Amino acid sequence: MFSGAIQMNFMGRDIVSIEDFSQQEINHILDIAKTMEPLAKTGSDMLKGKILATLFYEPSTRTRLSFEAAMLKLGGANIGFAEPDFASVRKGENLADTIRTVENYADIIALRHSLEGAAKLAAEFSKVPIINGGTGAEEHPTQAFTDLYTIRKEKGRIDGLKVALIGDLRYGRTVHSLAYALALYDIELFLVSPETLRMRKDVISTIKNKIPVTEDANLEAIMPKIDVLYVTRIQKERFPDATEYAKVKGAYKIDLKTLKNARKDMIILHPLPRVDEIASEVDNTPLAKYFQQVHNGIVVRMALLSLVLGAIK
Ligand code: NCD
Repeated sequence: MFSGAIQMNFMGRDIVSIEDFSQQEINHILDIAKTMEPLAKTGSDMLKGKILATLFYEPSTRTRLSFEAAMLKLGGANIGFAEPDFASVRKGENLADTIRTVENYADIIALRHSLEGAAKLAAEFSKVPIINGGTGAEEHPTQAFTDLYTIRKEKGRIDGLKVALIGDLRYGRTVHSLAYALALYDIELFLVSPETLRMRKDVISTIKNKIPVTEDANLEAIMPKIDVLYVTRIQKERFPDATEYAKVKGAYKIDLKTLKNARKDMIILHPLPRVDEIASEVDNTPLAKYFQQVHNGIVVRMALLSLVLGAIK
């Protein structure tokens, strides 16, 4: 029967790319994340008996630990590896076989991998839902949900904002997922990066059809008008050539001087880890929201786990 309402169904769904989600679905995830705030304090048994496997083929602090903490807060349990060298990967086991094994032990799998397409491939083989915890320089959808949640919480809305993405827009996967997601809203986007680290073409061509995008924006010139400054680390490990990295190393740094003309209500976000792109003197200003962003990563992942595992609609 036609009810007029669009059906949203998250149960059993893979979270591979942010492009698989509509604005309405993203808003629903953010609403559910908000309801998780009290549960992040008290805990819950919503996912009792459920097991999350975290298979992390690349280094991680926040993504893996926040997934595991989210699962524990909801009464579930975790298994997995963060050192593929100590798993059968070392013996030459391929990703498909690892997935076909782990699906027998877990109800849901969060995967981080250096290869683009790895989460999609895993989802094709897996009987249990796959959550992409970062694939190469491609995408990091759960970070984008966290970023949007933080923007909405701090600014009260997403629509109507001017957002600048600064840093490694080529190899940084968080900015790709975030740009796709922002393009679903009424956003004006400014991209600031060294020439060789410009936003990849496939992302640009998708988002430019939807929202106004200024490539190669001048940070000083746009500083007085932007609402959100999203800073990223240069992804040293993804450079094919060390001399190319040496050329851009330290190419930008946000410090109190850079922020002199910023709006008083501007917020600074960073997916972390930070190397030297935000001076520590910025941490104590009211603009710095990157550690709140870390907290938000827990409630967002609690929401995603409970939706995909069917504990909540
Ligand atoms: C990011 C990542 O792994 O892509 N970290 C994260 O998950 N918060 C950003 C980075 O490594 O620079």
